[in-house]
Amino acid sequence: MSSQKGHVIVLTYPAQGHINPLLQFAKRLASKGLKATLATTHYTVRSIHATTVGVEPISDGYDEGGYKQAPSTEAYLESFKSVGSRTLSELISKCKDSGSPVNCVVYDSLLPWALDVARQFGIYAAVFLTNSASVCSMFWHIDHGRLALPEKQATEPVLLPGLPSLAPADLPSFLAQPSSNSAYLAVIMEKFSCLDKNDWVFCNSSAELESELVKAMSGLWPLVMVGPMVPSAYLDQQISGDIAYGASLWELSSDQCLSWLETKPPKSVIYVSFGSMADITAKQAEEIACGLIASNMHFLLVAKDSINKFPIEFINSAQERGLVVPWCNQLQVLAHQAVACFVTHCGWNSTLEALSLGVPMVAMPQWSDQPTNAKFVEELWQVGVKAKKNKDGIVTRDELEMCIKRVTAGERSEEIIKNATKWRKLVIRAVSLGGSSDKNIEEFVGKLVKE
Ligand code: UDX
Repeated sequence: MSSQKGHVIVLTYPAQGHINPLLQFAKRLASKGLKATLATTHYTVRSIHATTVGVEPISDGYDEGGYKQAPSTEAYLESFKSVGSRTLSELISKCKDSGSPVNCVVYDSLLPWALDVARQFGIYAAVFLTNSASVCSMFWHIDHGRLALPEKQATEPVLLPGLPSLAPADLPSFLAQPSSNSAYLAVIMEKFSCLDKNDWVFCNSSAELESELVKAMSGLWPLVMVGPMVPSAYLDQQISGDIAYGASLWELSSDQCLSWLETKPPKSVIYVSFGSMADITAKQAEEIACGLIASNMHFLLVAKDSINKFPIEFINSAQERGLVVPWCNQLQVLAHQAVACFVTHCGWNSTLEALSLGVPMVAMPQWSDQPTNAKFVEELWQVGVKAKKNKDGIVTRDELEMCIKRVTAGERSEEIIKNATKWRKLVIRAVSLGGSSDKNIEEFVGKLVKE
């Protein structure tokens, strides 16, 4: 191992749901005295604004526009592996030449080849898992031959230690329909096959959030909980109240959203967003639009580039009761007192953000780990309800309206708000000085600085 001290490269996959937690992790390391450099692709570097950490580009082989330029997901991941390995090596060499040698690479779990790069330089390697520990445990069980992947489509419930019984509809899409996600599934399984070869395996979650799972897996795997990596979890400790991540791949409509929210009474607005990757159909957009109108509440809808999928009358009439924007600073919106609930796809970051701000959720999972996160929102943490899909896979306007009512009014909503407040406190405690996740980060930093 290198005898040099405390410079960590944090390598992120160039998607919003990955940059956010990894950038926040780099900032945490910097706040504890390490030098931290976030490495990401050329075309995402310019979207990142960070003062306490360095930001350096590497290449995925598609420097103008990334995966959208690639012929397929397989081709993109393959290119990233070969060009990324070379350019990450060049970055590590450059740091050494400039007198700031790197002694650890913390890499995004979608980029497992970074382990080999770290090993070639004889430096520490740590993988950062961007999903919940519960979801990760399912892949771990597959890798260890304790859970079989279905041939085509899951039909039986899955029973695993520390997890509730998971119906096929609650499974990550990579497991429920393995053939439709084969490129991502291959990378995920590659990562789990070499988990033990890492010096650290970090997970963006806290022991409190997944206590049964942590107990059941104790001693079996090397997972270290360091999350949630959400600036809002630090809200109580921040003087400025600035809760942005400092990275946005889309243009923000923050001022417009905040001034609109300022005009609304407390707990009167439904915030709706499906994250950076999910793509809803025009039929689903129509049902959402009608459900929001029927709810009789105000709404703030993030449409990204799907705005044309929503009925034109809805967009035109939205001015009266709602605001439709392409993108916003989600943390600022969730932290606003006018927001009553979050209609969400349950991406892991969105789920953690809502948990850390105590915002009740209506879960509308789309793919990836989201179905499992949605199950936990409704049943484990009981901080929201999951909207049921009809036989065509659509959440109807009536179902959405009913779910919104259940989390914003009546007896059930009081219960949900009580739980949301409880989990918020536990999450904040985990990341506060001396909390379970904070201690784990301290230990890691201590080891690197002592080396
Ligand atoms: C994806 C997966 O869905 C997620 O489950 C996985 O763990 C990581 O990759 P994504 O679909 O983008 O991510 O969802 P999510 O994990 O919720 O991340 C989205 C991020 O974008 C959040 O941090 C959220 O704050 C941010 N966001 C979203 C905005 O800043 N503005 C918006 O308008 C919408």
